[in-house]
Amino acid sequence: MKFLELANKRGSVRSYSDKKVEEEKIQRCLEAARLTPSACNSQPWEFIVVSESEKRAGLAGFTGLALSKLNSWTHQAPVLVVVVAKKPNLSAGLGAAVKNRPYWLMDVGMAAEHFCLQAAEDGLGTCMLGWFNEKGVKKLLSLKRTDKVVLLITLGYPARDVVKIKKRKSLDEMSRIEG
Ligand SMILES: Cc1cc2nc3c(=O)[nH]c(=O)nc-3n(C[C@H](O)[C@H](O)[C@H](O)COP(=O)(O)O)c2cc1C
Repeated sequence: MKFLELANKRGSVRSYSDKKVEEEKIQRCLEAARLTPSACNSQPWEFIVVSESEKRAGLAGFTGLALSKLNSWTHQAPVLVVVVAKKPNLSAGLGAAVKNRPYWLMDVGMAAEHFCLQAAEDGLGTCMLGWFNEKGVKKLLSLKRTDKVVLLITLGYPARDVVKIKKRKSLDEMSRIEG
């Protein structure tokens, strides 16, 4: 698949079939994330793959908002991936402090997208989730105090084959060519 085709194919999937996700496909997504560039090659990430039903249900329960339907569909995803930001290495940490830029957050975001693009290439659906109860997730997975949960990603085979037209700003709105 050409890259632009793949970038178009990846879309947030919020309805999953219960078909099991093959271990080698999960490994390929992790490998894609592993190859992501990062500030000072710090690689400040950990991907925690949760397929076991009780733990997964616990995690899905942390993605909702009381009295709303927000993220209520996450319960039917066969795999949940917790994307954790670890303490960056010394140079990346210093650089981020001096420049007041959260390089680690950019690094982890890119790694998450690598993961999702590989999933799309393998016919899997994903949706990144930025809305969750971080305290609950950290407790459930016994994460360290210094760990930050940046995203959760749902992973599985889409229930339906839908091609969604991307709603995006036009090239003119999102770019300019300065000669
Ligand atoms: C950082 C981030 C957080 C997001 N959080 C949620 C979320 O909590 N729930 C949800 O349903 N979608 C979430 N999304 C998915 C976006 O709504 C989606 O990517 C956007 O509408 C573009 O659609 P597409 O992914 O289908 O191209 C999130 C996406 C990103 C990148």
